[in-house]
Amino acid sequence: MLKELSKCQLCVNLDHVATLRQARQTSYPSLLEAATVVAGSRAAGVTLHLREDRRHVQDSDLSAISQWFPKKFNLEMSCHPEIVGICLQLRPEQATLVPERRQELTTEGGLDVLGFFDRIRDVTQKLKARGIWVSHFVEPDGQQIRRCADAGANAVELHTGRYAQAFLAGENVAAQLERLADAARYARSLGLAVYAGHGLTLQNVAAVAQLEYVTELNIGHGLVSHALFVGLAHAIEDFLRGMHKTHSAEHAVLPALSVR
Ligand code: PXP
Repeated sequence: MLKELSKCQLCVNLDHVATLRQARQTSYPSLLEAATVVAGSRAAGVTLHLREDRRHVQDSDLSAISQWFPKKFNLEMSCHPEIVGICLQLRPEQATLVPERRQELTTEGGLDVLGFFDRIRDVTQKLKARGIWVSHFVEPDGQQIRRCADAGANAVELHTGRYAQAFLAGENVAAQLERLADAARYARSLGLAVYAGHGLTLQNVAAVAQLEYVTELNIGHGLVSHALFVGLAHAIEDFLRGMHKTHSAEHAVLPALSVR
C-alpha cells in the first residue's frame, strides 16, 4: 500500500539565516521575519539549534520567536546543563537532543545513546516532565534506537548525512536508503515517532520523505541556500513539492520500498 504522502511534514531549520546575520553581527537578516514566513507557509514548524558556542542562533532569538510562533517550535540542543536549563524555561513544543562538538562545521553524526545513556535518559526525563516532546537525533542504527526507547524518547530523528553523501557521490544510495527504511521500521515498532534530517536537498529529499513511518523532515542548509535565489516562502513550497514528487527508478527498486 502506498504511504499517504501528505503525512510527511516539513520543519524548517533557520540556523543559517542566523549564520548570515552573525557573520556581520548585524540585526539582519531577521530571524523573526524568517519565522513569520514559515508561520504563513505550509511547513509544520520551525527548528532552531541553540549551540553552546552561540555561533548562529542567540538566546534572544528563542524568546522572541517562541512567544508568538503559532506552529511547532523544535529546539535542537545538547545535554549541557546550561542549555537544558534554558529549554526547561522556554518549554518549546519539542526538544531534539543532538551531539555537539566545538570544532565541527555542523552536527556530524548522531547521539551516542549507548555511550552516554544515563545523561541522555536524565535529560530526556527532565524535559518530558515539563511537557516537552523529546526526540533523539541518531544514526539509523538499531542498537542506538533501542536505547532511545529505553531512555524514554518520544521520537527519533534519523541522521540522513550518510545517505546525502552517498547521493552526492552517486554510490550506495539504495543501501543507505534501505538502512534508513529498516531503522524507521524498527523505531516505529518500538513505539517511537520517526523523523529524519541532515544534508537533504531538493535533489535527494523525495526518497526520504516517502519512506514508510517517516512523518517529519528537518531541513536547513539546502533550503536556506535555495531561498537565496527564490525567496524563503518559495523555497519552502519547492521543498514540500519535492518531498512528494516521483523519484528515480534507482530508489524504487529497493525491496523495502517496492512492496509499498
Ligand atoms: N536535524 C538535526 C538534528 C540537525 O542537527 C540539523 C543540522 O542543524 C538538521 C536536521 C538540518 O540539517 P541541514 O542543515 O543539513 O538540512
